[in-house]
Amino acid sequence: MVHRRDAIVIGAGAAGMMCALTAGRRGRHVAVLDHAAAPGEKIRISGGGRCNFTNVHAGPKNYLSANPHFAKSALARFRPADFIAMVEAHGIAWHEKTLGQLFCDGSARDIIAMFLKELAAVGATLHLKQSVVSVERTDGLFRVRTETDLFEAPALVVASGGKSIPKMGATGLAYRIAGQFGLAVLETRPGLVPLTLDPAFLEKIAPLAGVSVDAEVRHGRTAFREALLFTHRGLSGPAILQISSYWREGDEIAIRIAPDVDFAEVLNAARRENGRQSVATALAAVLPKRLAQFFAAETGAERPLAELSGKAQAALVARLGDWRIRPAGSEGYRTAEVTLGGVDTAGLDSRDMQAKAVPGLYFIGECVDVTGWLGGYNFQWAWASGHAAGEAV
Ligand code: FDA
Repeated sequence: MVHRRDAIVIGAGAAGMMCALTAGRRGRHVAVLDHAAAPGEKIRISGGGRCNFTNVHAGPKNYLSANPHFAKSALARFRPADFIAMVEAHGIAWHEKTLGQLFCDGSARDIIAMFLKELAAVGATLHLKQSVVSVERTDGLFRVRTETDLFEAPALVVASGGKSIPKMGATGLAYRIAGQFGLAVLETRPGLVPLTLDPAFLEKIAPLAGVSVDAEVRHGRTAFREALLFTHRGLSGPAILQISSYWREGDEIAIRIAPDVDFAEVLNAARRENGRQSVATALAAVLPKRLAQFFAAETGAERPLAELSGKAQAALVARLGDWRIRPAGSEGYRTAEVTLGGVDTAGLDSRDMQAKAVPGLYFIGECVDVTGWLGGYNFQWAWASGHAAGEAV
């Protein structure tokens, strides 16, 4: 079957659906195609099923890109408040959890339902289970051939996401299309991903699996203060996911455990109160018990506080404030929430996401070399870049 439209969008994810409804509101006839059986699968599983759909603080500083200025234009023209207005117009209740992160009160499915209503209202057609076989451009017309259908339009928007979670259908198609049309693709790597440890170190911290603690995690000059979680594979939790996007293989990270706690003061006070209590007991007043035991044992300080030398205490306090770890790797695309790198922004117009050298070809969302922090920033980029292209096609 042949479908002729004003624009074709490949990918019925966050960016693709936003683009299609924006273009549809302008009277454009748009076809959205996806190889999945359902639209917005990543929206559905996001935010623990409640979709952290934006962050009220979202700005260019919250994104990683070879060109830190690229995201500015799109982010300025579609702000968190614009998405909140959409959500509210659909009667979706939401709340701020922490650090400006907005979640649905009910379910992430409400966001998908909102998009489907909007797409239907503007007459955009959704074509699921469509595997792209080839993309061509002749005489200013794009032809996207799937196993069953042919889609033709003067504009093609590639919104097929990155490589994260291949089990959910991530394919890297966008990078192939970019390559086919001569656009540069910057090296991709998993982001917002748990970090793994070498077997010897993992064995040492095995008793900590499941322990979570407030921490500041630093890589170079970048630091995030959020929860850190010890797992059976290594390190996770928001603080680690955030720093993972900056970390490179072979690099060290520095962890400051419980930054609000003055450990020297805690130990001194405990010593004054009862010098016979163990270091582990004193630390357990301010840390999870297993973590307290781990640090006490680590510094050879399982003895009573009264017997802990000033030097040994200083070493323990220093370690809690600057614990250096060299992760062995990351869990990779299997669990990464996003893909860093991607279609080089140097080849795109920041106002509408159009390829500078290929009129009518657009790249939006995660496939572009713009990657947000954890906390609703990636959806905000998907909405903003989708909106920018939707205003142009
Ligand atoms: P997205 O991946 O959403 O959509 C791409 C679409 O293209 C998919 O529907 C896919 O099936 C389709 N496709 C791929 N290859 C194709 C092909 N060859 N042919 C046809 N179709 C193809 N972000 C955030 O801001 N808040 C959050 O709470 C979360 N939570 C979260 C949890 C988990 C587990 C993950 C993995 C990720 C998140 N994210 C997130 C990140 C967020 O999901 C991500 O940044 C956006 O979904 C990116 O939107 P896109 O539309 O670019 O890609």
